[in-house]
Amino acid sequence: MIIFDTPESMRDWSLTQRAAGRSVGFVPTMGALHEGHGSLMKIAVERDDITVLSIFVNPTQFAPHEDLDQYPRTWETDLAMAQEIGIDAIYAPKPATMYPEGYSTYLEVEGLSKGLCSRTRPHFFRGVATVVTKLFCAVMPHNAYFGQKDAQQCAIITRMARDLDLGVNIVECPLIREDDGLAMSSRNRYLNAAEREQGLCLSQSLFTALELLQSGERNVDAIINHVQNGMARVHIDYIELVDALTMEPVTTIDKPIVLAVAAKIGETRLIDNIKFDPAKVPAATLTTGVV
Ligand code: PAF
Repeated sequence: MIIFDTPESMRDWSLTQRAAGRSVGFVPTMGALHEGHGSLMKIAVERDDITVLSIFVNPTQFAPHEDLDQYPRTWETDLAMAQEIGIDAIYAPKPATMYPEGYSTYLEVEGLSKGLCSRTRPHFFRGVATVVTKLFCAVMPHNAYFGQKDAQQCAIITRMARDLDLGVNIVECPLIREDDGLAMSSRNRYLNAAEREQGLCLSQSLFTALELLQSGERNVDAIINHVQNGMARVHIDYIELVDALTMEPVTTIDKPIVLAVAAKIGETRLIDNIKFDPAKVPAATLTTGVV
């Protein structure tokens, strides 16, 4: 496994791989790897000839009051996991390499970046879109793999890759959960035992909402109220039912949707979501017949 820390060295290597006819897969991360990242890496290793993992805690996606300094950095265990899964190269630039003095170029994806997480983290997607574009310029991947846990991030990066003709295929991969249902996240390690227990109400409410949707419930308010009741004991940031492509709130459920939630448990902000496509519900599971 080779480690690069400059865009030039990373790009030279990737261009050599591409010139040799190999497909380059890319998994961008901020490190503190868990099984969710492991699943992305395994999918990439399986699908592409070579796979690059980036580890970079991106300062531009944190607001000054957020957890940039505390964000877990677990370099040695990250490398061991990447090696074990069969990653070929790591790209780990320094902050000063990514954002040298005088850095002043940022990317914004309009519309999609407005709702959900942007309401409490207005800086976030500008930082994500900027860093992902810079990482793509260094790694030059054919395919880039992102997890569905960050559904809004996936939608934004997919749109950005299309709008800017980046030539990178964005692959959205399934959300990975702990055995008890909690969505895997690097921030789960901030939770103490009681908070972790409380955090389960996010996935539990989403699962029962999914059952309602599968059995034919199509009233948006009823679904949202159901999730709100389930999350009554935590500090809710948002509960929204949005179009899976545009991330706009919907009033009718007649196309693929994302039911997304965010909440604060103590000092830790957790997000989770489920996807639902009304066209894919087997008729036998519809008990009310209302569509
Ligand atoms: O999802 C993440 O870990 C980050 O937002 C990403 C895509 C690596 C950009 O810093």
